[in-house]
Amino acid sequence: MNNNPIGVFDSGIGGLTVVKEIIKVLPNESIIYLGDTERVPYGTKDRETITKFALELTRFLLKKSVKFLVVACNTISATCLEEIEKISPVPVLGVIKPAAVLAAALTKNNKVGVLATRATVSSGAYTRELRKIKSSIEVFTQACPLFVPIIEEGLLDHPIAKIAVDEYLKHGFEGDCDTLILGCTHYPLIEDIIQKTVGSKIKLIDSAKPTARELKRLLTEKKLLDDGKAEYEILLTDTPPIMQKTIDMFFENKTPAKLKKVYL
Ligand code: DGL
Repeated sequence: MNNNPIGVFDSGIGGLTVVKEIIKVLPNESIIYLGDTERVPYGTKDRETITKFALELTRFLLKKSVKFLVVACNTISATCLEEIEKISPVPVLGVIKPAAVLAAALTKNNKVGVLATRATVSSGAYTRELRKIKSSIEVFTQACPLFVPIIEEGLLDHPIAKIAVDEYLKHGFEGDCDTLILGCTHYPLIEDIIQKTVGSKIKLIDSAKPTARELKRLLTEKKLLDDGKAEYEILLTDTPPIMQKTIDMFFENKTPAKLKKVYL
């Protein structure tokens, strides 16, 4: 048993899709969420910058005595998970492996698509992880750099979201994939638009659900589960007024905590 909080972090608000799933499967766990909204997006930046920012977020959360770190960001998980593990005295879970394991289990034609940021696509992390699980899997990737700024702006229902999805996906997905990984924790916020565009035959997978399930398995295995009352904190490095509205929309007005601005 361990009553310390779980630290969850992302470049922005996208990682809250992971928090939402963690709350569902681990209702007694306290969570401190940290989103670097001041410097989002990370997916357009280079490896060195992403690593530097990610290590700052890691150190901030470690100072809060978290018992476990969840890297709720595909871009960070794909770029520098090992560097984070090196400086962390507590266990670290990224989002790439849980999503890849689920996709490999679900694909019937062995063709998996991945939508992600430029940094995640160019890291090759999904291709490596999927091939490790099943070497015969064919992987097709598509970088979608317009999605994150649109989502961070809260334009989830605005026509611009549909235009951006069409821009990347209206001609279908290369390779006839039957399974498509939403390889960025922001993308589930526009999942309906993506599903409508690619058609109902393609199975969409987001990293949030398998990551939350894997977290539960690891906490149980390491005897780190909490049996108390959960408390939540949402800490952001920038809190423009639009952000609360976007987050409330996502949590259907049941946002677990008030947003708080922090300085790294
Ligand atoms: N939510 C992020 C991801 O999973 C980051 C997007 C970004 O900052 O570009 O990749």
